[in-house]
Amino acid sequence: MANDFSTLQQMVKQAREQLPRGDWDYLIGGADTETSLKRNRLAFERLALKARVMNDVSQVQLRRDLLGVDQRIPVLLAPIGSLQVFDAGGGLSAGLAAGEFGIFQILSSVCQPDFETLARESAHAKIYQLYAHGDEAWVMDIIGRAQNAGYQAFCLTVDTQVYSRRERDLLKGYLPLASRRPGFKPGQPREATLQASLSWDLVKRIKDRFSMPLILKGIACAEDADLAVSHGVDIVYVSNHGGRQLDQGRGTLDMLPEVVRAVGGRAKVLFDGGILRGTDVLKALALGADAVGIGRLEGLAMAAGGTAAVVRMLELLEIEMAANLALMGLSSIDQLHPGCVLPAEPVASPHVLSGFPLLDEY
Ligand SMILES: Cc1cc2nc3c(=O)[nH]c(=O)nc-3n(C[C@H](O)[C@H](O)[C@H](O)COP(=O)(O)O)c2cc1C
Repeated sequence: MANDFSTLQQMVKQAREQLPRGDWDYLIGGADTETSLKRNRLAFERLALKARVMNDVSQVQLRRDLLGVDQRIPVLLAPIGSLQVFDAGGGLSAGLAAGEFGIFQILSSVCQPDFETLARESAHAKIYQLYAHGDEAWVMDIIGRAQNAGYQAFCLTVDTQVYSRRERDLLKGYLPLASRRPGFKPGQPREATLQASLSWDLVKRIKDRFSMPLILKGIACAEDADLAVSHGVDIVYVSNHGGRQLDQGRGTLDMLPEVVRAVGGRAKVLFDGGILRGTDVLKALALGADAVGIGRLEGLAMAAGGTAAVVRMLELLEIEMAANLALMGLSSIDQLHPGCVLPAEPVASPHVLSGFPLLDEY
C-alpha cells in the first residue's frame, strides 16, 4: 500500500518495479551524455550540512508563504508532461495530492486532463506552465484563460527553445506520449514554433497585459536572472529541466548563489534539479531559494501509487526536513543561510537516483 512507505527508497523501488522500461527511462533520463543530470546530483553531494547543538529544537517550523498561499513545506510539484503515463489520473491525481498535503502544483501544458478541466475538478493551489507552441495570440489567449480558471500564477518555460536529444529514448525508439502523432519519428527535429524565437519583449508584453504573477522557468545564470527581473518577472525559476535540455551544462545548485545575488530580493527565486531528499531541500533553501520544485520524485511517487503515494512522499520529505533541520540546531527554515552548508567530498558517484543508495540492497 502506498501509504505504508516508511522510506522514499521503498517508494522508488516500487515505481521501478511497476513501470515498463521505456516509461522508466523517459522519467529518469536526461539529454545526450546525461552530464547535466549527473551534475545536478553532484552539486548536492558536494555540500555537507553543518551540525549545531544545544539550541531548543523541540518545535520546528517548515511552513512558508508563496504567492500569498501558506505552504506546508516550500516544495512545489514541478510541471511534468504526460503524467498520465505514470498514473491514469494524470495531472489531476498529482493536483489532488498537492491539495491534500498543502502545497502548490505546477501543471504542465502537455499533461492530461487539460488545465480548465483540472481547475473545475479541484480547487487546490495551482500554477499553469506553458511551452510557447503556438503564436503570440495563442499564448496570450491561454494566459487569460488560465487567469480566469483560477490559477494563481503563470509559468513560461524558456529552456526548451529547441528540443534536446534524449538518447535513452532514441535508442529504444521510445516516443514520449506528447509526441505520439502520425508520421512523427523518434529523433526527427520538431517543427519550429514561437518557442524558438522567444525574446524578452514577449515577457514585457505579457506583464503589460496580465496582472497574474509571471514565473520564468529555466533561468540558468546571473545575466538572465537580471534580465528577467528587469522585464518584470515575479518569480525567477532556476532550472535546467532536470538535465533534460542542454547537455554538458552546470548543476543547478551551482547556479543558485549567483542567481540569488543577481535577483537581490527584487523577485522570488524558485529552484529545481536533483532534489530527492529532505536534506536536498534544506541545502537549496540555505543557498537562497524561496521554494523548490520536485520533478522526478513526483513522477516516481505517481508511478508507485498515484495520489496516495504522492501525499506519502511529501510527508516523508517533511519528516526528513524536520529531523535534519533540528539536527542542524535550527528551529525554522527561516534560519537557514549559506553558512549552513560546507564543501565536502561526494561519497559515491553521482547519478539520477544517487539519493537512494540502498535501492538494490534490500
Ligand atoms: C518526465 C518529465 C517531464 C517533464 N515535463 C516538463 C514539462 O512539461 N514542462 C516543464 O516546464 N518541465 C518539465 N520537466 C522538467 C521538470 O519540471 C523539472 O524542471 C525537473 O524535473 C527538475 O529536476 P528533477 O527531476 O531532478 O527534480 C519534466 C521533467 C521530467 C522528468
